[in-house]
Amino acid sequence: MARHLITSAIPYINGIKHLGNLVGSQLPADLYARYLRQRGHEVLFLCATDEHGTPAELAATKAGKPVTDYCAEMHQVQSDIADGFRLSFDHFGRSSSPQNHKLTQAFAGRLAEMGLIREVTEEQVYSKADGRFLPDRYIEGTCPNCGFESARGDQCDNCTKQLDPTDLINPHSTISGSTELEVRETKHLYLRQSELKGDLAEWIDSKKDWPILTTSIAKKWLNDGDGLQDRGITRDLDWGIPVKQGDQTWPGMEGKVFYVWFDAPIEYIACAQEWEDAGKGNDWARWWRTDKGADDVTYTQFMGKDNVPFHTLSFPATIMGTQEPWKLVDYIKSFNYLNYDGGQFSTSRGRGVFMDQALEILPADYWRWWLLSHAPESSDAEFTWETFQTDVNKDLADVLGNFVSRITKFCRSKFSEAVPEGGSYSAAEEQLVADLTTRVRTYEKHMDAIEVRKAATELRAIWALGNEYLQANAPWTTFKTEPETAAMQVRLALNLIRIYAVLSAPFIPDASATLLAAMQTDDDSWPQDVGSALTALPAGRAFTVPDNLFRKLTDEEREGWAERFAGTRD
Ligand code: 2FM
Ligand code: ZN
Repeated sequence: MARHLITSAIPYINGIKHLGNLVGSQLPADLYARYLRQRGHEVLFLCATDEHGTPAELAATKAGKPVTDYCAEMHQVQSDIADGFRLSFDHFGRSSSPQNHKLTQAFAGRLAEMGLIREVTEEQVYSKADGRFLPDRYIEGTCPNCGFESARGDQCDNCTKQLDPTDLINPHSTISGSTELEVRETKHLYLRQSELKGDLAEWIDSKKDWPILTTSIAKKWLNDGDGLQDRGITRDLDWGIPVKQGDQTWPGMEGKVFYVWFDAPIEYIACAQEWEDAGKGNDWARWWRTDKGADDVTYTQFMGKDNVPFHTLSFPATIMGTQEPWKLVDYIKSFNYLNYDGGQFSTSRGRGVFMDQALEILPADYWRWWLLSHAPESSDAEFTWETFQTDVNKDLADVLGNFVSRITKFCRSKFSEAVPEGGSYSAAEEQLVADLTTRVRTYEKHMDAIEVRKAATELRAIWALGNEYLQANAPWTTFKTEPETAAMQVRLALNLIRIYAVLSAPFIPDASATLLAAMQTDDDSWPQDVGSALTALPAGRAFTVPDNLFRKLTDEEREGWAERFAGTRD
């Protein structure tokens, strides 16, 4: 069995993520981790909160809390929500951990040793009222190109022109509104990633099996020039990882911190150290150092498309530049965007459903199923309340739920609450085994390839086979003339419930657990051989009829939710 390291892009600490964020990284990563564990592989599945940077500082100020307290609280909030969605991280770490401080500083030190760090003196806008340098997007003014009054310092949203803050007419700080801005010189460390362009190009070229979305973004950035310019890895901020080498100050870098996008991916490694230090496992290096056993690890990353340049170029440059035996990613699964009801999810305007709200209104499985079966893989996808209601009602309630309820209730009323004895297979059952076998192998193929939507389609078809079998063979009719045959049909269908529980677990883990409990079995072994898996529950095995596995969503609920989430959350 193989060893798989899986990471999901680490969510920013400030605020609760929406369903579009969830389906773009954490949820499909969880699907894959659960599937690989079920297939018997050794899995280390890591995620964390991305805690540094200006937005975190500002959110803490807004909340009236010290930034360390704010981050600790929000980490707990995000961790609880992740549990609610049944995200099965082996560890949910923090980019502000001592482990990440040490490792980030060590990476920078090593890159300097390798001659890949240079110092650059730049001019940046300083706000006296705010007492800080302002990142470009926190400066607004009038666009010199089109006259739009709220153009940002990096770009005008009206005419899309790329801007420098100094281009703006009447600039002001969006933090305090102050116009007392001045340009000051400041020194920063730059990673000379342009030196690594050849190595990166060769590495990306060798990844023939990567999704087109991933490689097309990587190549665009690599070849357009922009992506591989040397980049600043430090910032003039208070909150972050101090720029030091071990305990030594870094001359000229006093009071500065590393740029959040430098330390965030390093947290993938530090998170494994946190996992070990928390006593949850041992030997983090076995997953991350190729000289310590990680050469036989397959490393898969999950992320939204906006994160692809950082994971295909910047982070690999950080790793390659050290010339140390760190594990490089093997496969990058990236996602397009999920839109919300004719527009975009908007965190600032509270438009769309956020993770905490989703769990308030429905259990995790409803969301998991809909989101994964509509994962934005080949293009952007759209959440609408109509499709959500229709699909949940059809797939979960009518197809899977109905199958389970029909057969368990029928067995209870005509036989007993135990798997019935007697009868043997005829052609219809042989055919069902053959059809199921074909579909299960296809399902495995899609799951192995992380083709999320295709896997969901196949799983739905596997559920439908059960209903089609019952429809065609009608044990309720057979029972009247051939009770032995009906017993065999019911026995098969009850066994099918166990198989459904096992196959569906990566998508709908709670329903899967409910089904296994109802079948009074802890045999969750994968149906390697469908024929023998259909005999796992022997005659005489007691079961219970599960309560309504999935309920139907009503029109009134749909209308109420559509109104509630149209956008006003503060
Ligand atoms: O886009 C985001 O939500 C970032 N916080 C992702 C960081 S992923 C990584 F590099 F750690
Ligand atoms: Zn403009």
